[in-house]
This record gives sequence, C-alpha cells and structure tokens, in this order.
Amino acid sequence: MSVEMAPAATAPEIPLVEVRELRQWFPVGGGLLRKHDMLRAVDDVSFTIAKGEVLGLVGESGSGKSTLGRAILRMTQPTGGQILFDGRDLTKLGRRALRPLRPRMQFIFQDPFASLNPRMTVRQIVGAPLVIQRPELNAAARDARIAEVLGTVGLSMQYAGRYPHEFSGGQRQRIGIARALILEPGFLVADEPVSALDVSIQAQIVNLLIEVRRKLGVAMLFISHDLAVVGHLCDRVAVMYLGRIVEIAPTRALFRQPRHPYTEALFSAVPVPDPTIRRDRIILRGDVPSPLKPPSGCAFRGRCRYALPECAAAIPLLRQVEGGHWKRCIRDDLVLGRPGKRGAVEEM
Ligand SMILES: Nc1ncnc2c1ncn2[C@@H]1O[C@H](COP(=O)(O)OP(=O)(O)OP(=O)(O)O)[C@@H](O)[C@H]1O
Ligand code: SF4
Ligand SMILES: [Mg+2]
Repeated sequence: MSVEMAPAATAPEIPLVEVRELRQWFPVGGGLLRKHDMLRAVDDVSFTIAKGEVLGLVGESGSGKSTLGRAILRMTQPTGGQILFDGRDLTKLGRRALRPLRPRMQFIFQDPFASLNPRMTVRQIVGAPLVIQRPELNAAARDARIAEVLGTVGLSMQYAGRYPHEFSGGQRQRIGIARALILEPGFLVADEPVSALDVSIQAQIVNLLIEVRRKLGVAMLFISHDLAVVGHLCDRVAVMYLGRIVEIAPTRALFRQPRHPYTEALFSAVPVPDPTIRRDRIILRGDVPSPLKPPSGCAFRGRCRYALPECAAAIPLLRQVEGGHWKRCIRDDLVLGRPGKRGAVEEM
C-alpha cells in the first residue's frame, strides 16, 4: 500500500482520553531470598486523544505498545499515573464502577481466530456484549442490532448462525470488529488488527476501519508496525521506545520531518509519495535493550548515531518543538529525515 497522508490534525480541545504519567511495571524473577526486578513495560507515558481522533502507536517489538493499549482500557491495573476517560480517572475505579463505562471503550485484537470462541456462532459472539450490557432487549431487538452492525462491517445476517472456522481470516476480523462496535463505543484500541491477515486482505480491513471512523466518528488508538497503514489512517502518531514515548506529532509532520533520531531511522524505510523527498534508508543495528536494565540517560543512546556524552546524564524530557510536535531528545541542532540519494542504505 502506498503512503497517503492523513489530513493534518486539528488541535484536540476536549480530550476523550487523557493519559497522564502512566506506568505499567511487571515484577519478574525473584524468589525466597531474592527481591524481584521491575520490568518497566510502560513508563511515564502521557498523551491525549480527542473525540473521533485516531492516534497511531508505533515502535519496535517489545517497546510496550500492547501493554499501553491494555492498560488504557483497564484490562490491567496500572502501576501509576492516571487515565482520564471523558474526565473520569479509570485508575481509581474498581471492577463494578468500570462496568457501565466498558461499552464505551473496546479492544480489537490482532488474531481474530484466537479471540473468537470457536463454539459460539457469529450471532452469539457479536450479541454477547448486548446480553450483558443491554439485558432489556428481547431476542428480536438484539437480532436487529446484530444485523445492523454486521452490515456496517460488510457481513450478511444470513451468516449469523455459522461458526468462526467457517470464515476466512478477513471475515473473522470483521466479526471481531462487529463485536467491538455493537455497543456503539466512542473509543477503540486496535492492536495490530491487520498484521495476522494476508497482505491482500489487509487493505480491505484498513479501509473498513477508515469507513467505521468516518461513519461512526469513533476515536482510536491504532497500534501497528506498518507505517504505511499508520500514514493512511492516523491523525497523529506516537513513537514508543523502551516503554516511553520518544516523539508524538501530527502524521504529516512526523513523516515529513521526524525530530527524534529513532523516528528518523524507523521512518527512513517508508516510501513517501513526494518526489522532492528522498531519504537514505537507515538500518538500526542491535536489539532494543532490556526494559529490565535500560541504559542510563537516553535509552536510545547505544543505537543513536548522534549520541553525545551528555546523552547519558539524564532521561531527556518530552519537549514541544513546534505546534503539537514533541520529542524526547536533548539535541536541537539536528536536521533529521534529510534528503538523500534514493535507495542508499546507511548503517547506524
Ligand atoms: N505480563 C507481563 N509480565 C512481564 N513482562 C511483560 C508482561 N507483558 C508484557 N511484558 C513485557 O513488557 C514489554 C513490552 O511488551 P509489549 O507486548 O507491550 O510490547 P509490544 O510493543 O506490544 O511488542 P510487539 O510489537 O511484539 O507486539 C516486553 O519486554 C514484554 O516482555
Ligand atoms: S538524546 Fe542523545 S542519544 Fe538520545 S536520541 Fe537524542 S541525540 Fe540520540
Ligand atoms: Mg504488541
């Protein structure tokens, strides 16, 4: 898929979701005589998502994207920080108090097959949230709503009696999306929703999500490795590295001129449909360091070709460099994503 930029984001005024200094740490190891270590999967993450806005979340494997998505929907109990949903702090709410808010925020899983109960029909899978959250509806009213939401995702009600194994991967993801939409949520976390699908099917599901967004105005945190898809779908993009956001900006600005060296490397492989922009491809050497023992100072410094001795001194702050564009890097003298010879490959 070629990269087609999302429209420039308007400044979000009243955030639907506001995440403040969120931390999700996991105790690992330890025993009778040894204290456990803390794996900082998500550390000091703050951002907002406006009503109807789609925020992309990118970063290498293990950077904490799924952990962040799950924490925001309170599928886990965060270690610290706040998650304000429509002004209410979800971290302060217990299971019972969260229940009435659940319909308003839903998760779309990466693997539609694993997330659908093989012993339930489509009608049962898609209708299950209605049974729990809208017990006043009778079977006919439930069926009417199931038919409506299946129509939205491009499936016919005549398949409602079938089981997940009778569908293709793309159709199964449509069922997963229907289940997420049935209660008319205002916010979705979509965690790599197309990466388990055949390439030929991926564009159809991305187009479905674009359509869902256009028709229903639903806000989304869209987690993906595929930067082309992110460019296509998202208003803004946050880049994660080792549990922290290192850059966040409107999609167009981030693709045109990344401000963080990690983003520059990550985005250098994406073709941009602008003949005036030519980028050298930067191959990132080495693995992401362990979140159990992150390097001191800037966590990216071991892989950063612009690192200075002062980068080891302290964790750089996430600073606004221009309207809506934030970066976590101490160097302001760098001009990144600079034009270069098409096709060249640089090693860092
Ligand atoms: N329940 C858990 N207990 C301990 N460590 C965990 C747990 N869940 C995630 N982690 C660790 O947290 C870090 C972030 O994992 P996460 O799955 O959020 O990354 P990701 O960015 O979604 O990666 P991927 O792109 O591969 O899906 C990893 O080091 C992972 O091993
Ligand atoms: S702070 Fe230093 S090491 Fe970190 S990204 Fe910026 S230049 Fe590179
Ligand atoms: Mg993940």
